[in-house]
Amino acid sequence: MSKYVIAGGNTLSGSLRIHGAKNSVLPILAATLLVNGESVIHNCPDLKDVRSAIKILSHLGCRVTRENDTVIVDASTMSRYDIPETLMREMRSSVMFLGAIIVRARKAQMSFPGGCELGPRPIDLHLSALLRLGVNIRENGGEILCEAGDMTGTDVTLSFPSVGATENIMLAATLCSGTTRIINAAREPEIEDLQNFLKKTGTNIVGAGGSIIEISGASNAVSVEHTVMPDRIAAATYLCAAAATGGQIELTSVIPEHFLTVTAALEEAGCSILSEPGRLFLRSGPELKSIRPIRTMPYPGFPTDVQSPLMALMTKAKGSTIFIENIFENRYRHVCELLRMGANIRVEGKVAVITGVSKLSGAPVSMTDLRGGAALVIAALSAEGISEITGLSHTDRGYEKMEEALAKLGADIQRID
Ligand code: EPZ
Repeated sequence: MSKYVIAGGNTLSGSLRIHGAKNSVLPILAATLLVNGESVIHNCPDLKDVRSAIKILSHLGCRVTRENDTVIVDASTMSRYDIPETLMREMRSSVMFLGAIIVRARKAQMSFPGGCELGPRPIDLHLSALLRLGVNIRENGGEILCEAGDMTGTDVTLSFPSVGATENIMLAATLCSGTTRIINAAREPEIEDLQNFLKKTGTNIVGAGGSIIEISGASNAVSVEHTVMPDRIAAATYLCAAAATGGQIELTSVIPEHFLTVTAALEEAGCSILSEPGRLFLRSGPELKSIRPIRTMPYPGFPTDVQSPLMALMTKAKGSTIFIENIFENRYRHVCELLRMGANIRVEGKVAVITGVSKLSGAPVSMTDLRGGAALVIAALSAEGISEITGLSHTDRGYEKMEEALAKLGADIQRID
């Protein structure tokens, strides 16, 4: 099993270019199925989840090639409409392929995406929305069988602004006659990136970034070119790492407006932050201070994906910080590993209270999920002594060459495969 060996205590400094956004490129790769020809996707990060999405596209009969950070998908050769259990298990967010497969094949088959480390991860919002658009859905033995019926545009109201459900509806709606409106849509920047891609395919779509998105008209392009937006969660993660080591870093290829709630929290903790278009500079404060309660919320609220990286930082901040995790049911699994490093954290349901300690001690710990794994790396960088962190398949899903990025900034980190 791969592991990191990290000797804590080094200060991170230097400049880092942030890779393309995992949570944007995944739905965009699904959307390439709507193009009966070639889609050229630039700034495509080399991540485990992206490789899984490419496996799905290949399984469906598409021709996929990669040239550095450009992925080219030729979906004209698509010949299947099913996603096998093995590939569904590899990446639970494969459910976002459902809408796109239905558009091209007018049917789709996949197994229920398993739960994951964050909780059961239901897809009821996806399925009820597709039903409303005219998709007939049968479930048997853990398999979902979808068939396009009379696909008619209509209003679809989400009881929760689910990112994945919003994306699935945006894609499926391109098969509908008339206009579809998504009410209470997710407002994440990744939704806007998907809208920009869909516009290039010929679909009329407006409103992404707001709570109402309007879609009409099919995709009719036979070639599309798109550059994926930068990964705001990776950017936030590396800022937390720099702050945790008392360092200072410059991030390039970022959109600071995408993570204002994170930079506000870091400034409240005592960091200085300067930002300009495409760039952001953080200098950590002489002493980290605890901050007002952090409540994770749908965008533009504080992102749930940055809860654990920020928590790792707060373990050594003077005073106590309260976290309230409102999005996922089980997103504190990194806490017990942080406790092994000497952190002082109390969890009661969705509330975690972090009381700052003067030091963390390196220890052998295991990653439990993608962002929780990043939190362990941040804690190890700021701890005294050596940490061994196993379960790198988690961070490999969402951070491109993390060990190289951190070593470039001065971390004493080795990857042992
Ligand atoms: C996306 O997941 C992201 N993943 C997640 O990032 C992110 O944490 C999440 O949005 C929230 O921002 C990708 O984009 C690939 P949701 P998604 O549907 O679409 C419940 C990471 O670390 N729900 O907005 O699955 C669900 O259980 C990952 O990069 C239903 O109840 O998130 C959860 O509690 C982790 N029924 C909440 O809504 C549904 O049908 C938010 O889920 C769908 C979701």
